[in-house]
Amino acid sequence: MYRRPLCRVSRSRSSIRRHAPAKYRVGWRILAAICGVVFLLGAGSPAIAETIGGEAIELARLLAILLDSGRVVLAERQPLLNDPSTGDKGFSPVVFEGEVVQEFLQRSGGLDLARLETTKISDQGKQLLRSLMAAGKEVIEEKQPIVNEKFLGYKNLIPATWGTWTTKKFSQRTQARLKQTALDFRNPNNAPDAFEVGVLRQFADPNYPREGERVFSEVVDGGRTMRLMLPLFHKKECLVCHGVPKGDIDISGYRKEGHVEGDSAGAISVTIPLQPR
Ligand code: HEC
Repeated sequence: MYRRPLCRVSRSRSSIRRHAPAKYRVGWRILAAICGVVFLLGAGSPAIAETIGGEAIELARLLAILLDSGRVVLAERQPLLNDPSTGDKGFSPVVFEGEVVQEFLQRSGGLDLARLETTKISDQGKQLLRSLMAAGKEVIEEKQPIVNEKFLGYKNLIPATWGTWTTKKFSQRTQARLKQTALDFRNPNNAPDAFEVGVLRQFADPNYPREGERVFSEVVDGGRTMRLMLPLFHKKECLVCHGVPKGDIDISGYRKEGHVEGDSAGAISVTIPLQPR
């Protein structure tokens, strides 16, 4: 059974909306709680200062979807990246960006990152989305020498490693934090905290919807922090590594978990600091 996370939540139960589409999920108390301005520790980092109300939740959702869009592109491009018969793969940061923009366009409900200035997203939100894309492209740039290596198969540029390197850069540069996590995690750095364990257990429930990208969000720490999680479910392309037979070593050197299509694969977890009222 799901137990409420350990976090100190000062809002009443009714203020917390779960499992509803993001646009309907913002109760007035949450709105009030997150209308405050976020304090900034580092000058010059993309601010969340004026990210108010429901926008903080929507922004967190978009960041999670953007990270997962990059992961999906990496998953789909594995045959190309790991092809030992070609040198130059033509998988430049710009090509990568183009594919991520397309993936994100579909999953975000029509938000075009290539024309971000025409959207209603706040300046801070735009900066965060741009910062995440820039971090992701940097990783692709840094990996060009190995990606374009001929006679080499597996390159270890997979969704999870790209995600880890990208989130590290992003989280160092901004006030928001992004993380990939799972109950049966491989990388100890991805171990879920108490809040994440509670939500991951809900995502693992067979009754939790596999379609529609139902996120979970909650304001915790007495209104000081907004947390959001986007569930991931195993698809065919994931099972090469995370599938069966359980215990066999996969191409990345880890033991396969024995998952089947549709199993909960973990989540992308977003943390955004908010100022308490
Ligand atoms: C080529 C093998 C491979 C494929 C394909 C793959 N993964 Fe992974 N996955 C890994 C490895 C290796 C790690 C640990 C990476 C690290 O050391 O940070 C990992 C980590 C993860 C994590 C982070 C939690 C953890 O275990 O550390 C999630 C979530 C995850 N994978 C989900 C997926 C999903 C969903 C897919 C399909 C879209 C997928 N993976 C495809 C190998 C793979």
